[in-house]
Amino acid sequence: MSDNVPAPPLARGWQPRHVAIVMDGNGRWAQQRSLPRTAGHREGAKAVRRVVEACVERGIAVLTLFAFSSENWRRPRREIEILMNLFLTTLRSEIRRLDAANVCLRFIGDHHVFSSTLQDYMSKAEKRTMQNTGLRLVIAANYGGRWDIAQAARQAAADISVGRLRVDDLTPEVLHRYTCLADLPELDLFIRTGGEQRISNFLLWQLAYAELYFSERLWPDYDASDLEAACAAFASRQRRFGQTGEQVVQGSHA
Ligand code: IPE
Ligand code: IPE
Ligand code: MG
Repeated sequence: MSDNVPAPPLARGWQPRHVAIVMDGNGRWAQQRSLPRTAGHREGAKAVRRVVEACVERGIAVLTLFAFSSENWRRPRREIEILMNLFLTTLRSEIRRLDAANVCLRFIGDHHVFSSTLQDYMSKAEKRTMQNTGLRLVIAANYGGRWDIAQAARQAAADISVGRLRVDDLTPEVLHRYTCLADLPELDLFIRTGGEQRISNFLLWQLAYAELYFSERLWPDYDASDLEAACAAFASRQRRFGQTGEQVVQGSHA
């Protein structure tokens, strides 16, 4: 097998180790009920709790959630303010429950633009849960896939400039080590709710061999049965990683 194959092929029926979700459709959920968009965001926070609990129950190793993209700053100022407040209040109200459920929390993205209160609380939450051995919950906030690749390239360039890395050694595998989720299992399943079929600058690098699953369900309505359906679809797919279907079948019986 070539060194470039990102992960050993999984046989059918396996459950994903690493699931990432673009939690989309909060605004439309609210608009359908003649409520302000922010009511959809509040309801979306409840869906986060349900889905985290479902992942803990299923024994999924990593859940990465897209909470706020680097492009979401283009929204109306008032909506951004409310989203930031909701982020902080949800963190405050959920941290005890997450810690008790043995969840290890991590934030990815460019956080220096957040208020110092929010940044402090994020690092406190990470420290509080860092020894936990259950679900790894990754929250992408002010995250962009292109930003992730650029920050990886910047770190690699810094290592080259001090002689820790040689230009010729900068292969995809080496650059990967500088990307945000490099220490976690490879992304297996990408889910987007809300009916849109696009990536919106989420985990561009990590999506190389993930299975894609798009759901019409609006995020505030998303629950354990929707996650179950996505995992069932994942389990029915044959991941070939460039090989033939026959090779994968033989490999899984070897
Ligand atoms: C996703 O829901 C939440 C964030 C981007 C923060 P939206 O707010 O994008 O909902 P729609 O797409 O307008 O329905
Ligand atoms: C992607 O959803 C970002 C998050 C869910 C946090 P958007 O609703 O911002 O995506 P676009 O703008 O429709 O592509
Ligand atoms: Mg949207």
